Formats: sequence, structure tokens, C-alpha cells
Amino acid sequence: MATPVPVMDDISIGTLTADPYPSFQRIRKTASAVWVSDARINLVTRFDDIMTVERDHGRFASTNPGSLMNQVMGHSLMRKDDEAHQVERKAIEPSFRPGVVKNHWSPIFNDISRRLIDAFSDDGETDLFMSFAAPMASLGLAEILGLKNVAWQDLARWSQALMDGVGNYGADPEIIARATEASDGIDAAIDETLDHYRNNPDPSVLSSMLHAEHTHTLDQIRANVKVIIGGGLNEPRDSILTTVYGLLLNPDQRARVEADRSLYRVAFEEAVRWVSPIGMYPRRVTCDTVLGDTALKEGDQIGICVGAANRDESHFSDPDSFNIFRDRGQHLGFGAGPHFCAGTWVARQMVGEIAVPMLFERLNNLRLDEDKPAKVSGWVFRGPISLPVRWDN
Ligand code: HEM
Repeated sequence: MATPVPVMDDISIGTLTADPYPSFQRIRKTASAVWVSDARINLVTRFDDIMTVERDHGRFASTNPGSLMNQVMGHSLMRKDDEAHQVERKAIEPSFRPGVVKNHWSPIFNDISRRLIDAFSDDGETDLFMSFAAPMASLGLAEILGLKNVAWQDLARWSQALMDGVGNYGADPEIIARATEASDGIDAAIDETLDHYRNNPDPSVLSSMLHAEHTHTLDQIRANVKVIIGGGLNEPRDSILTTVYGLLLNPDQRARVEADRSLYRVAFEEAVRWVSPIGMYPRRVTCDTVLGDTALKEGDQIGICVGAANRDESHFSDPDSFNIFRDRGQHLGFGAGPHFCAGTWVARQMVGEIAVPMLFERLNNLRLDEDKPAKVSGWVFRGPISLPVRWDN
């Protein structure tokens, strides 16, 4: 018998932001969906329930006219279904194919990573968030998008402002204002560049969209660039830091990875499971229905907590630990179904093949700074917000 959605009001945005995993575990044990008033959404945390949702876009739609993402970024492919989604997804795919990533983007990422490490490698200490992960992700993304006219700091600030806007379940007016400023800045940067790609096609996303089989309107281009700025910067940044953090906390695993370079990509994948950079994303319930043991109503908003599913004990043993040698099951860090992350190969290459291995190879005896502990924060988006390290010169 399905029961109405239980309410768990002792869970707040504050508790989730500080450390969502104990709350996620309580929700998983309680019901298939639980209402959290502070976040204004029904949270779905079990792995199997999330797979059910992602396989059934008829009952659980991405199209979501009132969603925060549509308000902040415009109507992007991420909030469309079926034909409307497929047309726009197909348009950006030429920029993300494994061959293009390997042959075109990989040398560019290598160069960016090398130059960034050159700038601080003599210092013996740094906070990897600002000196490496943020600029690496931002400079890489500017290339992928074709927005070379934008400073990495602006792109990083805009990305954070957009993501804060999308995660603004508490409707904070200051967050809305910053997201609007970011959106306007991105529109201006796109307007400046479009003409160039009309006559000079290349593998960038702007060029792919301009030369797609189905002509895109300016609104479509703007919304999809914004969704990629939101989803293509913070996530590689956070997964660089989480992979480094996981390895530095586990010297035995770090030693194995250093002895066998091919294991870095396994460490990256485990990091995305362990602390999923996108912890939660929404779906809309299209009809009165039942999910697992819970009855949902037409119009309900559900929050798909992949960060919780990736620690579901029924799928992963000892799920709270970082373990690159665990049995490799599918994780949900890149989502599932038609909206599975378009940038997966880019992220795997940039983080698991280039940025993280290069850090360990270039910085001798890399270690956490004992005087400045790392800080990890967030639940809609989660990762280290500070990762102070030291090494020997
Ligand atoms: C570790 C890094 C990354 C993680 C963990 C990640 C995670 C995800 C997740 C969970 C989704 C599904 C969201 C939803 O259905 O609402 C998604 C979608 C998407 N991601 Fe990523 N992402 C990463 C990197 C990237 C990069 C580097 C790019 C592009 C440069 C990118 C572009 C996209 C796009 C365009 C979509 C929407 C796909 C669609 O709706 O069809 N992502 N990502």
C-alpha cells in the first residue's frame, strides 16, 4: 500500500549544506519520497527509485515551466523532453564526441594544466581551489564553449551565480540578483562572438549549435550556453578537488595510483560517486502516481538526489568510504537516461587523465596542509570549497 509523502521538517537547508549524508540516509530509510519544507521539494534518495524515475519521462518529466533553472537560464535542453530535447542534444554532440575530446580538447587541457602548475609549483603550498581547480575548469570551459573573449574569473563567477540561482530553493533575493547579472553578462559575450563562428566553424559548442541541422533561435543558444556554463565548470572543478582529496586521505590508494597511471581515471569515477558534484536535480510529476512505497500527485516537484543514491547501502558496500578498489557498479553521478551528462568524456579526460595525474606527477610529496583543514560544502552541488596542500621543492 502506498502512503502519502511523509514530512521531515527537522531537516533544513543548513543541515543538508553542511553534511547531507546523515539526512539522506534517514530519508532513504523512511520512504521513497520525503517532503522537506525548508527546501520546498520532495526528496528521492534510493538508487532503485531514481532509476525508475529516469526510465519513465512520461510520469516524471524534465520539462518544468516553473523550475528555478528556467527562471535563471531560460529554457535549455536540460528542461525539455522527447523530440524538443533530442534536437538540441544532437546539436551540441559534435563538440563532446570521444574522438573530438581526445584529439582536439585533450592537448588544450594539457597546456592549460601545465601553465597553471608552472605558476605555483615553486611555492611549496597553495589552496588548490583558487590556484588550480577553478581556473583549470574555467579556462577549459571557455575553450569548449568558444567564449575565448571572457576572463576565466568572470566565467567562474557567472557559473557560481547561475548555480546558486538554480539551487536557490529558499528564494534569497541577493542570489537572484547575482544570477541575473551573470545571465546578462553571458548574453553580451555570446552576442560578441556569434558572427565569428558563422564563417569560422570549429569544434566549439557555439559553432556546433550555429551549424546544427536544425536552426537554433538566439534564445535556444543562450539557454544552452548558460546550462553548460552552470554544469560544465563547477563539476569538473569540484571533481578535481574531490579526487585529489580522496587520494590524499588514503595513502595506500594514492600509492597504487602513482604506480599505475591508468588508475587515475578509476579514482576520478570513484570521486564522482563518493561526493557527487551535482547532488540533486529536479523532475516534475505529470500524473497522480506511485513511486516505490509513496503516493505522488500531479504537479509535485521531486528532487532526484543522486548524491544520496550513490551512497545507497543496497548498491554500494561501505558507501561512505572512498575506495577505488570497490566492485565497480554503475553510479549515478552523471545522471541516467536521456539527460545523461553530455560532458562525461570531457570531464573524464580533463580531470581523470590530465589535471589530477599532472598534479601528483609535478608536485613532489603532495600532502594536505595540516594547519589548514579542507572545507567541503553543499548538497544541490557539493565539493571542497577550500583544499590547502603542501609539497616539497
Ligand atoms: C564531473 C563532472 C560532471 C558531472 C558530475 C556532471 C553531472 C551531470 C548530471 C548529473 C547531469 C544530469 C542533470 C539533469 O538531468 O538535470 C548532467 C547533464 C549535463 N551535463 Fe554534466 N557533469 C559534469 C561535467 C560536464 C561538463 C564538463 C560539461 C560540458 C562542458 C557538461 C555538460 C552537461 C550537459 C550539456 C548536460 C545536459 C544534458 C541533457 O540534458 O541532455 N557536464 N551532468
